[in-house]
Amino acid sequence: MAKPKVILTRRWSEAAEARLLELFDVSLNESDKPFSPGHLQDALRNYDAVLPTVTDAITAEVLSAEPLRAKILGNFGVGFNHIDLQAAKARGITVTNTPDVLTDCTADIAMALMLAVARRIGEGERIVRAGHWKGWRPNQMLGVKITGKTLGLIGFGRIGLAVAKKAHCGFDMPVIFYTPHPPLPAICEKLGAIPCDSIEAVLREADFVSLHCPGSKANRHLINAERLALMKPSAFLINTARGDVVDNEALIQALKNQAIAGAGLDVFEGEPNINPGFLELENAVLVPHLGSATVETRNAMGMRVIDNLIAFFNGEVPRDKVI
Ligand code: DGY
Repeated sequence: MAKPKVILTRRWSEAAEARLLELFDVSLNESDKPFSPGHLQDALRNYDAVLPTVTDAITAEVLSAEPLRAKILGNFGVGFNHIDLQAAKARGITVTNTPDVLTDCTADIAMALMLAVARRIGEGERIVRAGHWKGWRPNQMLGVKITGKTLGLIGFGRIGLAVAKKAHCGFDMPVIFYTPHPPLPAICEKLGAIPCDSIEAVLREADFVSLHCPGSKANRHLINAERLALMKPSAFLINTARGDVVDNEALIQALKNQAIAGAGLDVFEGEPNINPGFLELENAVLVPHLGSATVETRNAMGMRVIDNLIAFFNGEVPRDKVI
């Protein structure tokens, strides 16, 4: 029997691409340039499986491609807000993602952003590189401690829980959280995590607010000007979820006016285009969507997509089936 035809929209790790090439009839994206909507439609017309990433907008329009050959979208990433799930379902396409394998690395980036913004790491690096450092002094570039400060989590799924563990066990941070789907009380107890009954309650109390909710239409601008105004002037906002969960214009105003102390951001509305307002702010640490960007994790993500494809083409339900 002929091997299923599979197309990748971006380059993957060497090991994951090699495994894929052994198992399937694969078309790699040698140039690593993102696909246009037309190119995505061609992929849906000519391949049994299309393997997109967060940079591919798989809209209803793209999914209207005719005649449709693709039966599965094996997404390289845990978030799937770039895929119109309803349209995919209507076209009978299975969608899978890559949970678990990127949980720790994404939680690590949230911790790194907390430390970087509170201890002014980005600012300090800019001073050293510009040759402006005049030497040590007692009042030079004072930041604030993160140890012992209250961490407020919005969203408490896999990544939120991992951040809670690192913050609580590593930095003695009391943890509060809001989620519509609270985990078992025993899990919360182990992490010393206290549920709040609203996002507002978390925002009012936390010294660091870290976002771990999915990107979706419902969560667009979940953190808006009104909600930012509830945060303490000494508090920091960390976003490793999706850019549009925060109203970026409102955040820039809050940072400019020092209504909050700072922000650590791995994701942006309209990325990779960054609102130029962010670039002028010393109290913002800006990182180019690096949450899962380690050699180990990106390799594991590729392998997880492949496991899902193997199951699918064997007629089994893939472990990470979204729809
Ligand atoms: C994810 O896995 O969702 C990351 O944001 C990269 O796509």
